[in-house]
Amino acid sequence: MKKLIAGNWKMNGSAASNVALVQALLSGASDWKCSVAVCVPAPYLAQVQGLVADTGIDLGAQDVSQHESGAFTGEVSASMLQDFGTRYAIVGHSERRQYHGETDAVVATKAQRALAAGITPIVCVGETLAEREAGRTEEVVKRQLAAVIHTNGHCISEIVVAYEPVWAIGTGKTASPEQAQQVHAVLRAQLRAATAHADRVHILYGGSMNAANAAQLLSQADIDGGLVGGASLKAADFLSIIAAAH
Ligand code: 13P
Repeated sequence: MKKLIAGNWKMNGSAASNVALVQALLSGASDWKCSVAVCVPAPYLAQVQGLVADTGIDLGAQDVSQHESGAFTGEVSASMLQDFGTRYAIVGHSERRQYHGETDAVVATKAQRALAAGITPIVCVGETLAEREAGRTEEVVKRQLAAVIHTNGHCISEIVVAYEPVWAIGTGKTASPEQAQQVHAVLRAQLRAATAHADRVHILYGGSMNAANAAQLLSQADIDGGLVGGASLKAADFLSIIAAAH
């Protein structure tokens, strides 16, 4: 399967720096063997849609509302994302679970809203350090994915999964390729039990992926790409990760 490298810019960027970053990515683009996406802050969707049009870089959002429309001040709906050519929407990022109280059920509904609008949800799962140390990693990621499977039924083959161990996010501590592969294999088995098309579901790794560790992580059997935070803000680093994905 063609790998997918998605950048998650998080709450970074400006109109000026977005132009510089995308232009640097495009000027460094060679013959990419993988799919590439950038998940940008909602106010910049229109701008970045223009910057990446016809370039082979896909546009993504970092969240989507669980509601369809109406009195939900500050929320952005799936159909609004669709208006700006958004191909992907991250849902259930650990920062949203942690700081915005998103439950498994909310994340599952968000995935459903995205799918209904023709947007591919990138569903994030991952354990905290305390959960890993308590030997609960498998139980936690399976619970998180099970909610999304339960709500989305046969559409589950249309999602992207991102395994992001919370302890590896923004910390410089990466899961070892073996640690990551072990969890990816658990997630693949869970998808297989839910759909005959589990082998075409991308399972991305996220958490301090960088130019130095990407190739080894991406060589694992069930690691189909990366969800890249900090390193996606530096064109040279993001380009190195893209080059490692083939
Ligand atoms: P870092 O790559 O900065 O660790 O962030 C990973 C992440 O959370 C991507 O969604």
